[in-house]
This record gives sequence, structure tokens and C-alpha cells, in this order.
Amino acid sequence: MALFRCLALVLALSFSSCYLSTPSSATSDGFLQCLSEKIPSELLFTPGSSNFTDVLVSTIRNPKFLTNTTVKPICVVTVTDASHVQAAVRCGRMNGVRLRVRSGGHDYEGLSYRSERPEVFGVVDLAKLRAIVVSTDEGVPMAWVDSGATIGELYYTIAKNNPEVAFPAGVCPTLGVGGHFRGGGIGMMMRKYGLSIDNVIDAKLVNANGDLLDRVAMGEDLFWAIRGGGGESFGIVVSWKVGLVKVPSKVTVFNIVKTLEQGAIDVLTKWQDVAPNLPSDISVRVIAQGQQAIFQSLFLGTCDELLPTMTSRLPELNVTRSDCSEMSWLESAAFINFGNNDTTALLNRSTTSGFFKNKSDYVRRAIPKGAWQKIYSWFGMNVTGLIILEPHGGFISTIPAGATPYSHRSGVLYNIQYVTLWSGNDDGSTAKSWISNFYDFMGQYVTKSPREAYVNYRDLDIGENVVVNDVSTFDSGKVWGEKYFGGNFQRLAAVKEMVDPTDYFRTEQSIPPLLQSN
Ligand code: FDA
Repeated sequence: MALFRCLALVLALSFSSCYLSTPSSATSDGFLQCLSEKIPSELLFTPGSSNFTDVLVSTIRNPKFLTNTTVKPICVVTVTDASHVQAAVRCGRMNGVRLRVRSGGHDYEGLSYRSERPEVFGVVDLAKLRAIVVSTDEGVPMAWVDSGATIGELYYTIAKNNPEVAFPAGVCPTLGVGGHFRGGGIGMMMRKYGLSIDNVIDAKLVNANGDLLDRVAMGEDLFWAIRGGGGESFGIVVSWKVGLVKVPSKVTVFNIVKTLEQGAIDVLTKWQDVAPNLPSDISVRVIAQGQQAIFQSLFLGTCDELLPTMTSRLPELNVTRSDCSEMSWLESAAFINFGNNDTTALLNRSTTSGFFKNKSDYVRRAIPKGAWQKIYSWFGMNVTGLIILEPHGGFISTIPAGATPYSHRSGVLYNIQYVTLWSGNDDGSTAKSWISNFYDFMGQYVTKSPREAYVNYRDLDIGENVVVNDVSTFDSGKVWGEKYFGGNFQRLAAVKEMVDPTDYFRTEQSIPPLLQSN
């Protein structure tokens, strides 16, 4: 009965303005019918189900993508097994209905659960597919982690299993493994061990034919592409095999706040050349906002070991013993986020959502001191505006630019993430125009031709695909694709042509097939 109610609603929606150029309702009917035959009914949610909205909203982090005009899916399938993912792809292919895939729901443009353009699509939600198995492979510690796990769950499970090892990934514990790994995985250990993708050794992916492939079966080109090339363009990654990295029993963290009066700009100016050249087991990132800069650090060792290096390399920061907190690596993952050592909080999957817009840049030549004074004047115009600077150098920069799709390696000093927030009471237009103008102003100080950007900080302002004859064009993809992937974009398009030439796995920023160039 529930299914019939939902079909009626789908039919009604197909006449609304949001769904102008959609496949025929029979196509949607066929898709939903096919799903209902292959997937347990309790895992299939359609607009007719009483809890459809709850399921859809469950991991939406940015409510700006949840309005009456948002183009929403015709169903959400909360898969619990790889076979459900295969069934969803096969039903979709058979009936001409595309799928979007969601792991943790953090996509900055919401492309894992909404469409920018009128489209009929279903969402495969992996949140329930989240097993983590930690073991050793010929004596080397490793783990298989399902895409729906969060990185907080991954950190926690690894450390409880073996506190001598950990995994390099992002700072926010609720990030979904699937979406995070598909774009790279910048975090506090990347200078020592690289990005998350640099530590992926196998994966299981459902391709556009609905086949479940491991690394051997998918081949090295596709395996290369899914590690940082925006995995949703090539299929649905169900799980990842990762190598674990050694961490000492004690690590040291500090958070030092410098105001402009206390010389924040002097420290920041020097930090740009120092931080990327520090020993790789030290990472000092910066959050600049208002009239201050917060220097936030993780060191894989004790305070006694850290102090001489910081004192000689960045004396202006004046790191003292009282700034240091020593703790286990797992505690540091909690501390950097929550400001306390409650490691169980890493397991909390619910987050507060907020309205925000982000952009990104890369810096290869230090920004002069005088420019920093101007940059701080931008924070005076927007109290919620901030930038996060993440130092590169160390191991991450020794990896060749073509080894993975993440091309921002040798010569990168740091990347910049721009953030602005607003409350639900306004439409965000002031915040959005601030971030856009600030980004334009920064153009003179950051990389050019291409102006590099980080695919995990997705930004539709830098370009969207144009679809011709039902396939995304290579030329339109190149506009944004070379910013995210540099010279790797062309190879990604070649892989797409090989594995999904009809462009089934498509979003506004998916890799287009190479041969469709026009
Ligand atoms: P979501 O489920 O929305 O997926 C994001 C994209 O990946 C979508 O296009 C989706 O289709 C695709 N995808 C998801 N699962 C897939 C799968 N299994 N197979 C194929 N494609 C899949 N980044 C970083 O590097 N370091 C950091 O510290 C942070 N911190 C941070 C904090 C906060 C609050 C936010 C909102 C974001 C970040 N990020 C980040 C960015 C983050 O890495 C990026 O948004 C990831 O894509 C999020 O992955 P989710 O699975 O959560 O998102």
C-alpha cells in the first residue's frame, strides 16, 4: 500500500515545475517497482512513506538544501548490503533513473542528495553500511571500512583494537568515509602519512553495470580514479581497505591564540614558509577570523620533544610547556574537535547543521605581510567569515602529482578553506556575496592557471557540467575539473569513458567521458 501511495505522489510531482524534463512516470514507476522486488521494503523510503523526510534529512548538514524548491529524490534506499547497492544500480539502469550516493551527507553543495537541476533520481544512502574490521595482513595492520562509517567511528575502532596505530583523515568526526575518501582526506597527520587516499590499498565498488568489483577486478586505472577523483563519477564504493599508520603512545596538541595586537600577522607571515618545512610529525594549522589567528597543532611525540623545534623554527609563536597537552592519539582526535578528551563523542553521528558556503584555494608562494593586513580587513566586514589554512609539505608533497587524482603536491605551501555562515532567518545573500568578493580579492595571492581548488571543498561557482545529447561534455567539465585535478583531469575523463561512457553516474560536477569532447 505504501508503495502505491508513493507512486501516486511521484505521478503528481512529475507535473510540478520542479520535474519538467523528467523521464516518464512509467520509468519512475518501473524503477520503484524493481526496487521493491529486490530490496527489503523497510529499506525503501519514498515520498509516500511517513518517515521519508526524516530519512532524507537524517544526514543533511546544510539546511539551505532543504527548501520547498529543492529538487529532491523520488526515493532513498538505506542499503545494508552490497547486493542492495547492485540492485539499485541495475534497477536504475533498466529504467533510466539516475542515482546519487550519500555516505555522511557533508557535501558542501549537497550533491549527494539533491539536484541543482530538474531531475528524477534516487538516493542510495550508505549510512547503515558501516562495518569496520581491523586486522593484520601479513603482519601489517590494516582495516576494511564500509563507506557509511564515519571517520570518528574509524578512529575509535582502530584505537580500541590497537592503540599503536591510527589512520590519517579529516578533522570533523562525522564525515562519511565514502565521500571523504572519494576526494582525498586532508587531516592533521597528512604531513607525516599523506592523505587518506594515499593509504587506501583496495576497495569494493559497484560499477555502472551493477557488478561488484575489487581492486583486481576493476583494474588499476579505475582504482586510481576512485582515490581522490570524485568517486561518484565512477560507481558506488561500498568499502575500502586501508593501511594503518604507527602513532606513539603520547602525542602533543596545542591551541595558541594570537590577536593582531599580539603580532598575529607577523607569526602568520612567517608560518607560511615554516609550517610546510617543519619535521613531518608536526602539523600546525591556522584558523584566522575576526582580529585573531588560532594556531592549532598536533605533534606525534611528547612536549619535551616538540618545544626545541618550535622555539628554534617559529619563536614568534612562543610555544611554552603550559600550552602543551599530552594525550593518546585517539584523545587528540576528540580534543582537536571538541576541546576535551571524551573519545566516545567521536561515535556520535548526529551533528548540528548550519547554513554555510565554502570555497578553497592553494598557496605556492607566501602572501606578503602587507596583504595579510588587507585580508584581516575582510574579517571586519563579516563576523562569521573565516579561513582555515592547512600546511602541506612533508610526506604529502613527496608523492608525485599523478600518483593519485589529488594533484596539489610538490610546491604547495598550504591550502585555504574559506567559510561563511548565516542563520536561517536570512537568505544568506550578504554572506554569499562576502565570500565571493573575498575570493575574488584573494585571486592575486593564490595559484593561477589553473586556480587550484580541493574537490572535497566542493564549490559549484567554479563550474558545472553542460549536458549535450544526455552526456556531460568534456569541455564544460574541464573548466572546474582542471582546478580540482590539474593535469589528472584528462586521465579521469579517459577512465570515465572506459567504465561509464553513457554517463550514468552523473552530477553537476561529475567527471565527463573524454570522447564526448565537442
Ligand atoms: P556525502 O555523503 O555528502 O558525499 C560527498 C560526495 O561524495 C558526494 O558527491 C557523494 O555522491 C560522493 N560519495 C559519497 N559516498 C560515496 C561512495 N560510497 N562512493 C562514491 N561516491 C560517494 N575534508 C577534509 O579533507 N578534511 C577535513 O578536515 C574536513 N572537514 C570538514 C568538516 C565539515 C563540517 C564538513 C561539512 C566538511 C569537511 N570536509 C573536510 C569536507 C569533506 O571531506 C567532504 O564534504 C566529503 O565529501 C564528505 O563526505 P560525506 O560522505 O560526509 O559526504
